[in-house]
Amino acid sequence: MAEKKAKTTKSKAAQPKADQAVPMEAAVSSQEPTAVKKTTAKKAGTPKKKAPAKKDEPAVKKAAPKKKTPVKKSQPAPATEEAKAEEIFLPQEVNSPEQQPLPAAEESPAAVQETAPAAEEINPVPAVPEQPKEEIPMYDTPRRSVAFIGSECHPFVKTGGLGDVMYALPRELVKQNCDVRVILPRYACIPQQYQDRMVYRGEFYMDLGFTGRSYYVGIMEYIWDGVVYDFIDNQEFFTEGRPYVNLVDDIPKYCFFSKAALAALNYMNWIPDIIHCHDWQAALVPVFQKTLFKDSPVGRAKSVLTIHNLRFQGIYNIPTIRYWTGLPDEVFQMGALKQGYEDANMLKGGLAYADRITTVRGTYAWELQTPEYGHKLEEHLQYHSYKLRGIVNGIDYDMWNPATDFNLAVNYDITNVLDRKWQNKMALQSELGLVQDGGKFVIGLISRLTNQKGLDLVNAIVPQVMDGNTQVVVLGTGDKVYEDTFRYYENAYKGMFSACIQYDEGRAHRIYAGADALLVPSRFEPCGLTQLNAMHYGTLPIVRETGGLKDTVEPYNTANGAGNGFTFDRYDAGLLLDAINRAKTEYFLNRYHWDEVVQRDMDKDVSWQNSARQYKDLYLELTQW
Ligand code: ADP
Ligand code: GLC
Repeated sequence: MAEKKAKTTKSKAAQPKADQAVPMEAAVSSQEPTAVKKTTAKKAGTPKKKAPAKKDEPAVKKAAPKKKTPVKKSQPAPATEEAKAEEIFLPQEVNSPEQQPLPAAEESPAAVQETAPAAEEINPVPAVPEQPKEEIPMYDTPRRSVAFIGSECHPFVKTGGLGDVMYALPRELVKQNCDVRVILPRYACIPQQYQDRMVYRGEFYMDLGFTGRSYYVGIMEYIWDGVVYDFIDNQEFFTEGRPYVNLVDDIPKYCFFSKAALAALNYMNWIPDIIHCHDWQAALVPVFQKTLFKDSPVGRAKSVLTIHNLRFQGIYNIPTIRYWTGLPDEVFQMGALKQGYEDANMLKGGLAYADRITTVRGTYAWELQTPEYGHKLEEHLQYHSYKLRGIVNGIDYDMWNPATDFNLAVNYDITNVLDRKWQNKMALQSELGLVQDGGKFVIGLISRLTNQKGLDLVNAIVPQVMDGNTQVVVLGTGDKVYEDTFRYYENAYKGMFSACIQYDEGRAHRIYAGADALLVPSRFEPCGLTQLNAMHYGTLPIVRETGGLKDTVEPYNTANGAGNGFTFDRYDAGLLLDAINRAKTEYFLNRYHWDEVVQRDMDKDVSWQNSARQYKDLYLELTQW
């Protein structure tokens, strides 16, 4: 079916006055600047590899075979290069006659224009690419329907771990007898190959706040591997080449998205048992649901809000958020959105209105209630602690599987990692223009380049790390100061330091496979996924003992060889250097034990299975009927 183009309806005139659009000093930035996924041309010398048929599309693969006891293999020798539209329920909303951001005393409900799609325009069974599914679903708990609502999801758009979770958790929940729909913005930057597979599902018009306008909401659908993805289409809000731009643009965008997602569920007449929203971009969903939508069908769903990173909260002045949402006065009280004298905090509001709050790791749920990690929301979280729970993230064993990963030069599993991993190292060195030598110790760093990630520590010690036997590979985008420093080091240590200032999913996989160790020296880390990916690829993590890094990486014990990686506690460059040196010592002088840890890490259960089960239990707890 031909794809319908979204209509352009938002006008600049409808935006708040300039003074209201200026972020408050205290505002938390919407997201650090990160590039969206794109396929980047390799540098000269791309290694020979199996044909990656569909580079950006994760194939369905089997998990690597597991072995309980690490097996010692021969040392790798360095070598040369190798829904249908039924009744439509939309919320009533108050509009100010003059489209002013401040509410008029007497507000009157404004009608919502609806345009039901013609029957033949709705295709509930869109074309689906190959879906070889073999696993038997675990139908041992009652079925529940869940709508995931968030701002990014691999492989459509991803800037960090949120995109991984939005991809992996729904897939695991399908195996645990859930009916899952993922609702996302239809950003213009979603790769064309996915845009082409979306099928028009319908459209309608929706009021938005005090804008006095009706906004087009298109629904484009894509069904893949048992999960239904519904993309909210509006070419005014989602035209940028990346999901997050700046607060001035992002606040209206996610006000629109949160409301449109609920309206779309009503429109499709698909009323889930649970609405599971993620981070500040979708935090207004429970607020809308319990106010403007409370008498509509979607108002009866239970809501869960997951905090992935409390640093980002979506804070702006109250008039602007009132203008873009049309939410009633009661939500702008201190117990909900209001923060300080004149700000509204979208995440804070969501935390107040959601039926349950989860965080991405058990102990993070407690840390968040302390001033050190609470980002000024600790008291609010303490107040709502009765509904707060921590469930640790996992990684998707199909997406991250060195035995089947089509990005790699050579596939491997726990039985042959010691013979094959070095071939990925050689291929990576060739790809990045580094000196090709399987005997070098290669340290990877895959990260958003932001001060959360401990990059000051890394920058401070690079000269001491570069000892002639060590190579460093950085993959990331973000703050210019970090990008420039890494570029400088690439120039200073030609052939030994590679700064890939880009977002490249395939290259990330090749670094996980080709590096010996991965650095994650974060200042704070709610959960962290890169250390889990690394371990699953037999790459030893070197991490700071904070947050999820502390919970998931057991320090290597030189006395008995136990542990998963190398750790340091205080945020101190000297301690990071010490951890790197300990890793080097094991690698160069005690390879037998190093190799044992490689195999132990690959064998460690970092899957989603247990955690998804806990989410399912939470859903069941909320929906006891
Ligand atoms: P965060 O969500 O705080 O950025 P996580 O460790 O939870 O950190 O997740 C980061 C995810 O993003 C991982 O899957 C990692 O591989 C990926 N990633 C980060 N930067 C890049 C990049 N430049 N190119 C490709 N993947 C990246
Ligand atoms: C956030 C956190 C990261 C976590 C990810 C997925 O981006 O910074 O620690 O792993 O969300 O939950």
